[in-house]
Amino acid sequence: MDTARVAVVGAGVVGLSTAVCVSKLVPRCSVTVISDKFTPNTTSDVAAGMLIPHAYPDTPIHQQKRWFRETFDHLLAIAGSAEAGDAGVLLVSGWQIFRSFPIEDVPFWADVVLGFRKMTEAELKKFPQHVFGQTFTTLKCEGSAYLPWLEKRVKGSGGLMLTRRIEDLWELHPSFDIVVNCSGLGSRQLAGDSKIFPVRGQVLQVQAPWVKHFIRDGSGLTYIYPGVSHVILGGTRQKGDWNLSPDAGTSREILSRCCALEPSLQGARSIREKVGLRPSRPGVRLEKELLARDGRRLPVVHNYGHGSGGVSVHWGTALEAARLVNECVHALRTPTPKSKM
Ligand SMILES: Cc1cc2nc3c(=O)[nH]c(=O)nc-3n(C[C@H](O)[C@H](O)[C@H](O)COP(=O)(O)OP(=O)(O)OC[C@H]3O[C@@H](n4cnc5c(N)ncnc54)[C@H](O)[C@@H]3O)c2cc1C
Ligand SMILES: *[C@@H]1O[C@H](CO)[C@@H](O)[C@H](O)[C@H]1NC(C)=O
Ligand SMILES: *[C@@H]1O[C@H](CO)[C@@H](O)[C@H](O)[C@H]1NC(C)=O
Repeated sequence: MDTARVAVVGAGVVGLSTAVCVSKLVPRCSVTVISDKFTPNTTSDVAAGMLIPHAYPDTPIHQQKRWFRETFDHLLAIAGSAEAGDAGVLLVSGWQIFRSFPIEDVPFWADVVLGFRKMTEAELKKFPQHVFGQTFTTLKCEGSAYLPWLEKRVKGSGGLMLTRRIEDLWELHPSFDIVVNCSGLGSRQLAGDSKIFPVRGQVLQVQAPWVKHFIRDGSGLTYIYPGVSHVILGGTRQKGDWNLSPDAGTSREILSRCCALEPSLQGARSIREKVGLRPSRPGVRLEKELLARDGRRLPVVHNYGHGSGGVSVHWGTALEAARLVNECVHALRTPTPKSKM
């Protein structure tokens, strides 16, 4: 095998970043991204894109922390480069506030973000319903710019993009030597994985250029995330709900919850509703699997199930997926005793 032909299924933030890492890290390979939807039509386009990790109960904390740190450092470098505007990556500071004292007042990611500290009494005065708060500077990575920017990088390194829905991974055999499964919620059908389920999120995109500080209720339900050209107001977490149409009652409720935290949002303009389904799972599935059927073999690397925090860990999981692809390529290039006979 001279060139290893790698297919990456999925063109959200996980698929595209994995494609970039595979082309960078795996020697002598070709990369093709195959997906039924591309930006601006993926879940990753709806994400607010704040780098605040969401804990996965079935993934060891040290691993989540490493993924987050790798993602944060990668995006921090972009935020400070000439590419920042095109990539839609920026530093933002703000407050995470709690109505009751959290079990852990210092989260595992506190030393990855910048300037993490407890809020002072003076800062908390703005939030009479809240008893505790944390302030820090983190990054925001906006899908509407970041996904096209990643696509450009995939194409720039010779990668191809194919619009196609895959019903069965075996469709990709023998055209491809290795398949990477970054299909998010699609894995429920594609990988027959019943552990993955949708957590519906509805958000509002508004014009309120005077709001520069983020505010997040510690429950993760209500948040105000300012970005390059608009502010994202959220949100909802509706488990098992597949409905992609916005609900007007929910939008009114989101606006009123956000106005309670930031009354100046009563003057927000150009309100647009967006809905996305988070590909949730007790843990991210990041592993190799050797599929076998009728004497044929197809190595697969799974990288899906990033749930509510995919943007926050995408680069770390993409690097790990690329290392697994490299191991598969190495195994294919190493002649087995059988193939020598
Ligand atoms: C309202 C909302 C707010 C969010 N805010 C944040 C945030 O602030 N910070 C954060 O870190 N995360 C956030 N998230 C979570 C984040 O959006 C996800 O974790 C992330 O987008 C998952 O990326 P993905 O690439 O795995 O999935 P997706 O973006 O869903 O991509 C999956 C891709 O696979 C393709 N696909 C699926 N099945 C098939 C098939 N059978 N054949 C071909 N192609 C297929 C799809 O077309 C798509 O291109 C938010 C999510 C929502 C909904
Ligand atoms: C996104 O979806 C819209 C509406 O279905 C469609 O017209 C458009 O072509 C899609 N864009 C891409 C890049 O697939
Ligand atoms: C994803 O993995 C699942 C589980 O192995 C598999 O059934 C499915 O075909 C895979 N999908 C893709 C696109 O690789």
